[in-house]
Amino acid sequence: MTESAKSHKISAIGVDQMPELQHKAFEQRYGQSDDKDWSWYDVADPATRLQTDRLLHRGIDRLMAITDSHPEDWRVLVVCGGVGGEATYLRKKGFTQITNSDFSSSAIEIAQRREPSVTSMVLNAEALDVPDDSYDLVLVRAGLHHLPRPVLGMNEMIRVASKAVLAIEPNEGVLAKLLGQEFEVEEGEINYVFRWTNELLEQVVKSQILQDPVHIENLRSLHHHKVWVVAEKLFADNPERMHQFIDAVYRIGGPLLDRVGNHFVGLVVKDPAVPHRRSLDLTDRAAS
Ligand SMILES: C[S@@+](CC[C@H](N)C(=O)[O-])C[C@H]1O[C@@H](n2cnc3c(N)ncnc32)[C@H](O)[C@@H]1O
Repeated sequence: MTESAKSHKISAIGVDQMPELQHKAFEQRYGQSDDKDWSWYDVADPATRLQTDRLLHRGIDRLMAITDSHPEDWRVLVVCGGVGGEATYLRKKGFTQITNSDFSSSAIEIAQRREPSVTSMVLNAEALDVPDDSYDLVLVRAGLHHLPRPVLGMNEMIRVASKAVLAIEPNEGVLAKLLGQEFEVEEGEINYVFRWTNELLEQVVKSQILQDPVHIENLRSLHHHKVWVVAEKLFADNPERMHQFIDAVYRIGGPLLDRVGNHFVGLVVKDPAVPHRRSLDLTDRAAS
C-alpha cells in the first residue's frame, strides 16, 4: 500500500491487483482504436451533443445551482474517464482544473492527445492513489458498474472529494429491468450491471462520513441510446430534425418517466452550508 493509501479511511487494493481480464479487455479495445473513433466527443452537431452530454449537463447545472458556484471554482477528478469525453464536456462548460483518469494507459494516451490542457493519469477507481480530499469534485459516468466492487469505487470517490461527488450510472427499477440487461458482455470484457438508487447512495455515504452534514440527491432520468438509434433511422439525412426528435422525446418523456427512469444521476454535496465559490472564500479570509 502506498503512503497516501495508508491514511485512507478504507483499505485500498493496489493497481497491480486490479481485475486482470477486465483491464486487458479495455486496454486492448483502446489500444486498437484510432483517435478518429472518439470524434463524437468533439463534434458540435447538436443531436450528438444532446444525446451524449444531457445527463452531465443536468448533474453539473444542479451542482452549480445548489452550491451557488461557477465551474472555475472546482478542481475536478474524473474516474473511469476513458479517452476524456467528460473532460471535453467540462472544459467546454468552463471548468479550468480538470484531471481525467482511467485504468487503461492506452485510453490515457488518447486523452492526452485529445485534451492537452487536461491533466491525465492512470488510476484504478477501486484504489485511487491520491490523498483524501484532494479534489473538490469527483465525477464518474458509466464507470462504477464496470467495477467488481462498485460500492468500493463510490467509497473512493467520497474519500477523495472534499466537496462533491457526481455519479451517472444505471438506476434500479422497472424501466431498467425492461430496457436493460443483467450482464454486459463485450469484446472479452464482462460486467454485472450494478444499478444504484437514492437510498443505496444515502447508506453508502452516511456509513462513510457518519454525521457530517451532507446533501444527497438523485436526479433520476429517462435516458437510452435507443432514442439515438431510432432518431438516426428516421432522420439520418436531416441533423436538425434528428435533434428536434431527440429533444422532443426527452422533453415529453422526461416529466412523465424520469421518476421511473433508467439512469441514476447521483449528487453528494459535503457541507452544503459552506460557500463553494472560491472568490467568496478569499473575500472571507481577507476580511478576517
Ligand atoms: C463504458 S466506459 C465509459 C467511459 C467514459 N466514462 C464515458 O462515459 O464515455 C468504462 C470505462 O471504465 C474504465 N474502467 C473499468 N474498470 C476500471 C477501474 N477499475 N479503474 C479505472 N477505470 C476503469 C474503462 O477502461 C473504461 O474507460
